[in-house]
Amino acid sequence: MKHETVMKQEAIEYLNIKPDGIYVDGTLGGAGHAKHILEHLKNGHLYAFDQDDFAIDYAKNVLKDFSNYTIIRSNFRFMKEKLSELGIHHIDGLLLDLGLSSFQIDDENRGFTYLKDTTLDMRMDRSQELTAEVILNTYSMEELAKIFFVYGEEKNSFKIARRIIEKRPLKSTMELVKICDSVNYNEKGHSSKRVFQALRIAVNDELTVLEDVLKDAVDMLNPEGRLVVITFHSLEDRIVKHFFRDESTIDIPKHMPIMILPDTKTEVITKKPVYPSEAEIERNSRAKSAKLRALKRK
Ligand SMILES: C[S@@+](CC[C@H](N)C(=O)[O-])C[C@H]1O[C@@H](n2cnc3c(N)ncnc32)[C@H](O)[C@@H]1O
Repeated sequence: MKHETVMKQEAIEYLNIKPDGIYVDGTLGGAGHAKHILEHLKNGHLYAFDQDDFAIDYAKNVLKDFSNYTIIRSNFRFMKEKLSELGIHHIDGLLLDLGLSSFQIDDENRGFTYLKDTTLDMRMDRSQELTAEVILNTYSMEELAKIFFVYGEEKNSFKIARRIIEKRPLKSTMELVKICDSVNYNEKGHSSKRVFQALRIAVNDELTVLEDVLKDAVDMLNPEGRLVVITFHSLEDRIVKHFFRDESTIDIPKHMPIMILPDTKTEVITKKPVYPSEAEIERNSRAKSAKLRALKRK
């Protein structure tokens, strides 16, 4: 299945692309955004990261008519080191379109979907050792419950964790779905949605890598450079929102006499998150939960 790029126009608009600039796409995926960025570049260059081999092979084909780009097979958390190895220390923009591509979600062998019976994998980077199966079959009940509660906001996290321990070893996604069904039997949506989200975040350490890359990106941005992030759930959005707020405000203790007001290095351009249009949501249901935020280096 083809991946439908989310908020393509909006992402390009907020990146405010300079034709000769250096841009980074941290989440290459199906290369929908990357292609659009390259169409706006003249002598500039795009560095694109993905940790998924399949996405990279797919993207190479989409970008076959362009030459001014470099694909880096790596977690974007290593962006600063990887670019520095290539002699790049400053960038004009970074785009992050977080989460998974449709082809990863739909792939029968990846274990991301609770709609198919498949292996409990959930790794974006298939060279990594930690899988959902390892977590489910070796973590303590407290650790499992914490993952479901913190990363999935699952209210029945302890009950689900206890049943998992009773039913070990778990081998397939449907075994996990059955456990969630048995606990969340009153659920209006899918019983396993939050548990699957939580496991995916834990397997790929998704929140920590986001915090890491945001810090590095601000350090690397040239004046007027942009940081544009599209998130798909509240935990990611909260990290971006708080990071942007902290970077662009200065805490001055009350009653402190101020002679010269110190300035911040950055400014939030989206005071409120930007949402996809109704038409886009109609066309692509995956866009429904998307939120875009953008920050500018002064
Ligand atoms: C939503 S898709 C991006 C889609 C892309 N913007 C497009 O228009 O086709 C997210 C992609 O980012 C990759 N990804 C997610 N987190 C990553 C990380 N921490 N490091 C590198 N790649 C990551 C996933 O493997 C996936 O291919």
